[in-house]
Amino acid sequence: MWTRWWLWPLVAVCTADFFRDEAERIMRDSPVIDGHNDLPWQLLRMFNNRLQDARANLTTLADTHTNIPKLRAGFVGGQFWSVYTPCDTQNQDAVRRTLEQIDVVHRMCQMYPETFLYVTSSAGIRQAFQEGKVASLIGVEGGHSIDSSLGVLRALYQLGMRYLTLTHNCNTPWADNWLVDTGDSKPQSQGLSPFGQRVVKELNRLGVLIDLAHVSVATMKATLQLSRAPVIFSHSSAYSVCASRRNVPDDVLRLVKQTDSLVMVNFYNNYISCTNKANLSQVADHLDHIKEVAGARAVGFGGDFDGVPRVPEGLEDVSKYPDLIAELLRRNWTEAEVKGALANNLLRVFEAVEQLVPSVSRLGTCMACRPQVFSHEKSFNPSLKIILTTLNPHQCPERQHLNCHPRNVPASQSPSRVPVTDLSRGGWEGARPTLEGWEFRQEVTRRQEAELEPPRGADPHPGVQADPKLHPSGPSLSGKPLELRGL
Ligand SMILES: *[C@@H]1O[C@H](CO)[C@@H](O)[C@H](O)[C@H]1NC(C)=O
Ligand SMILES: *[C@@H]1O[C@H](CO)[C@@H](O)[C@H](O)[C@H]1NC(C)=O
Ligand SMILES: *[C@@H]1O[C@H](CO)[C@@H](O)[C@H](O)[C@H]1NC(C)=O
Repeated sequence: MWTRWWLWPLVAVCTADFFRDEAERIMRDSPVIDGHNDLPWQLLRMFNNRLQDARANLTTLADTHTNIPKLRAGFVGGQFWSVYTPCDTQNQDAVRRTLEQIDVVHRMCQMYPETFLYVTSSAGIRQAFQEGKVASLIGVEGGHSIDSSLGVLRALYQLGMRYLTLTHNCNTPWADNWLVDTGDSKPQSQGLSPFGQRVVKELNRLGVLIDLAHVSVATMKATLQLSRAPVIFSHSSAYSVCASRRNVPDDVLRLVKQTDSLVMVNFYNNYISCTNKANLSQVADHLDHIKEVAGARAVGFGGDFDGVPRVPEGLEDVSKYPDLIAELLRRNWTEAEVKGALANNLLRVFEAVEQLVPSVSRLGTCMACRPQVFSHEKSFNPSLKIILTTLNPHQCPERQHLNCHPRNVPASQSPSRVPVTDLSRGGWEGARPTLEGWEFRQEVTRRQEAELEPPRGADPHPGVQADPKLHPSGPSLSGKPLELRGL
């Protein structure tokens, strides 16, 4: 043992690195908010969501990119946990399996309250920063999880969904996925179908971030044009640096800049170098490129840890973020630019999405809230402010509605205890779009039955074969005997 202690100062001297120290200093104040981590998928795959299994202890969990000590070492202060169900559950048990993954995130946060703080707002993220915890949010990865139902969409919002990835590696009946651009999927919606446009509008109305990772370029453009708030790519890199269709091309990056949106860079080797091997410096090349084309305000991190089989040399797990920050500082990124990429850009986009809520909501009953100063108004995107003030003259009851938003609740109230939404936001409009969604799904189902019925036993979703993630395309659990899952 004594040799280890004796060696310590020597090791420290040898690895002394000004930029690494600077990275840690910055991250102590401004930890990283990562856009996409598939630990919940690993919990299902490895333990069938049984968190009490001794091997599933997140303090000692081995063989994953993510565990509690690694999150601490990596200064991870916010994480969108991916709630994912494979494409072959589409039109089968996707909704149930989505709920089960939401449940495992909730239980994970309850089991490790000293580490995780479950939050649903930008104010909640700031609260977690103050408490030194990992702000834990839910991102639902794949529009197939809503089963073409705006009612399901709203229910997922109530359960904590704060971003929805419009597709995974399969088309939904209303949005096309990136495999359309490689020729592996047939275009169906040419971007967004009319129902897909309703989905985007409903996400805006509710205050859910729209995630364009995994979608086709046409879907990216249609959504960037339609959304009234900035959007995110929760885990996508730059097409000009690595020509994978999962990445974002430059013309879309320019739209990202125009709309004040955000690209959170994916670390998967095959999206970084377009080969099986990659390193940290090549990830920094993507960050540099996005900064150059879309501006420093458009850059973030969405490592895709525990969702991909190969990660770059130097970025082996979630503990390595400070090394990447050190590399950006070495490349002359300013402290403000680095802080933007770490947290401030995501917070800015999330706040813009939250602030847009009243302007797109129908007249709801205004809750009896104290009038409050709009403390965040200063940080408005000017173009969004124009929309808001145009649609909401000062005396409009919706202005008061804005005060009811969790963001405006005093920080002394724990965000986890603040109601995540008020009932007025669904409003009387509720039933109508649900019916439309239902009719739409019926129509799609009829069409599929008439035209697309696959031969018996064939895989109806060949696109899933190209899934580069660990996600096995195993059979859906539909029709299997009832299992006791996730006890
Ligand atoms: C996980 O393991 C740690 C260290 O062995 C232990 O202190 C902790 O109680 C365990 N947590 C749970 C939830 O079992
Ligand atoms: C990263 O990989 C690239 C391409 O193989 C190589 O040129 C570069 O030297 C590597 N950088 C480091 C720091 O290993
Ligand atoms: C960073 O700035 C310094 C000083 O201006 C300059 O010498 C150096 O070449 C720059 N490095 C990069 C990677 O741009």
